[in-house]
Amino acid sequence: MPIIEGKRKRCLSLTLTSDIYLKNFLAKGPAMKSMNLVMCSIIGYVGVKDVAQILLDGLERLEYRGYDSAGITGLKDGTFTSVKQLGRVKNLSNAIKPSMNFGNLGIGHTRWATHGKVSVKNAHPHVSFHGLFSIVHNGVIENYESIKQYLAKQGYKFYSETDTEVLVNLIEYHFRKEPDSENRFLVSVQKALLHVRGTYGIAVLCKNNPEEMVIARKSSPLIIGIGKNEMFVASDACAFVAYTKNVVYLNDGELAHITCSDFSITTMKNETIDAVKCELDWKVEDVSRGEHEHFMLKEICEQPISIENAMRGRFSDDLSTAKFGGLQLLPRELRQIDRILFCACGTAWHACLVAEYLIEKYARIPVEVAYSSEFRYGNVPLDKNTLVFIVSQSGETLDSLAALQESKRKGYRTLAITNAIGSTIARESEGGIYQHSGPEIGVASTKAFTAQLCIVAMLALLFGRLHNMGFDEGSEFVQSLLELPKKISQILDKKDEIQRIAKKYANCKDMLFLGRQSMFPIALEGALKLKEISYIHAEGYPAAEMKHGPIALISEQCPCVFLATQKDIWQKNISNIQEVKARNAKIVVVASEGHQISPDHIDDLMEIPDTHDALKPILATIPLQLFAYYIAKARGCDIDKPRNLAKSVTVE
Ligand code: G6P
Repeated sequence: MPIIEGKRKRCLSLTLTSDIYLKNFLAKGPAMKSMNLVMCSIIGYVGVKDVAQILLDGLERLEYRGYDSAGITGLKDGTFTSVKQLGRVKNLSNAIKPSMNFGNLGIGHTRWATHGKVSVKNAHPHVSFHGLFSIVHNGVIENYESIKQYLAKQGYKFYSETDTEVLVNLIEYHFRKEPDSENRFLVSVQKALLHVRGTYGIAVLCKNNPEEMVIARKSSPLIIGIGKNEMFVASDACAFVAYTKNVVYLNDGELAHITCSDFSITTMKNETIDAVKCELDWKVEDVSRGEHEHFMLKEICEQPISIENAMRGRFSDDLSTAKFGGLQLLPRELRQIDRILFCACGTAWHACLVAEYLIEKYARIPVEVAYSSEFRYGNVPLDKNTLVFIVSQSGETLDSLAALQESKRKGYRTLAITNAIGSTIARESEGGIYQHSGPEIGVASTKAFTAQLCIVAMLALLFGRLHNMGFDEGSEFVQSLLELPKKISQILDKKDEIQRIAKKYANCKDMLFLGRQSMFPIALEGALKLKEISYIHAEGYPAAEMKHGPIALISEQCPCVFLATQKDIWQKNISNIQEVKARNAKIVVVASEGHQISPDHIDDLMEIPDTHDALKPILATIPLQLFAYYIAKARGCDIDKPRNLAKSVTVE
């Protein structure tokens, strides 16, 4: 992406050789492959402040990710002080006694059990057998069992069931073999990681180096926050944004050696990397709930602003088309594109489906949409003038990153649409568009999704204007985009009414969402939001497909939500509504002002302001988000931390 400059690599003279005995042993041993979601969080600090307070504060800010245990370790005067607890970070704070002195260097973690049950023993940080190292780890060490067997033969004992404890012991094993030198700590971590298969974001402390921390990443994000005489590390910058906005994102295969005043980055092969610093454009308020009960509600309510931010500075002076400097393509090059492929996962994939409808309709360019996970292992034949967009709110989703790498490997121009400045997907793409939605904390994506919808509508406008869309049509499109924030506010003003409707459906077990054309992906998204946070089974279908199967489910117990916002297919929607009504299902309709739906045909109505057809997906999404939110609230669900879900999925 444009703000990210390239990195220069310099080679150090130091050469790493892996331990030949261990290497041979591991070559024979099994690799355990885990398929769990990564929901754990890391925070680390080195500086002058009370480390416990900073770590607890950071862990609290990362609580939204979901976890089952938490822990912190401080290093002071050559002694590790650790506290670990099951459950919430609050339990951890309560367990800390005033007499404990954690010092000014430490690491903290919230764990979501993968290897080993939920227990204090399995919670991080883990300490090595000889007590020299402490570690926190996100990710999965696939070959941990073989390493464990090897270390056990060397006399190492293990107290937990985790892959992480194996890793910290492997580091210690190398450290004890390594001759004393200035780099001994860093080199031991490097050497250990050479033997590891799997994914990791780690932060490590070493008793012999009481003012230093080493971190490393492979497929699990880690960010360094640079303060004044203090440094932070975290798996998500939310953890430390209250202290600093100057950050460096670690790339895959990189390690950093950090002190309170400095840091240096190297690769596993000992090349030194020149760090690329960037500044987060977040405010502290962005990462706190403010007056709202949940982050999800806060983020729903922020959409007038996030949509405005997605558009800011992105129109031509004559307000007849969109412009995106980050695409780094001249109009002439854009005109040559004759096929576009969008790849994404989850909610972002729904935004891509809307893109398909809009770009094909307004620009007449064929669009394909692929799940990132399918694209990376498939072999989709693409034309040489194909443009590929990877869409990812977090910029860290592993499948989307792999799709990006596969697309680049095949030689396609590969761009990103992402909300996370400096994220891996942003860095590895050849250009793209930032969403500027601000941090999204609620696990269920809301404002990031509508920003993606806004951007893909603007792409349809841009490509449309390059092909067959005239000036007047373009100006009308832009005008409608500019009116969006006001119209979203009008919908939000009616949230009490939506809550009243939602309460009526809070006890149902199934729900169908139906829509035609660009409303079909919104039906999918409405169903996804509902199942994610309320655990009600919900499906989305193109409205006409209902009679090819789903109609069998329709009964009084299975309400249907119709997205009937388009004038040109008005009658078609009304016929579908009647078919459902005839089977006694309750009907909720999202319709644009001025609709002609008789109140006799439906049970509840959620009206949205009228707008340009291309923008109706954005407006129709808002009542569905509120509907899902209030149903989940009425059912007493943990809305910001829905069970089994992760905000960012950094494993396959
Ligand atoms: C997870 C989240 C979803 C999100 C998806 C893709 O499954 O729970 O809300 O849509 O990942 O995330 P991305 O960050 O790539 O948009």
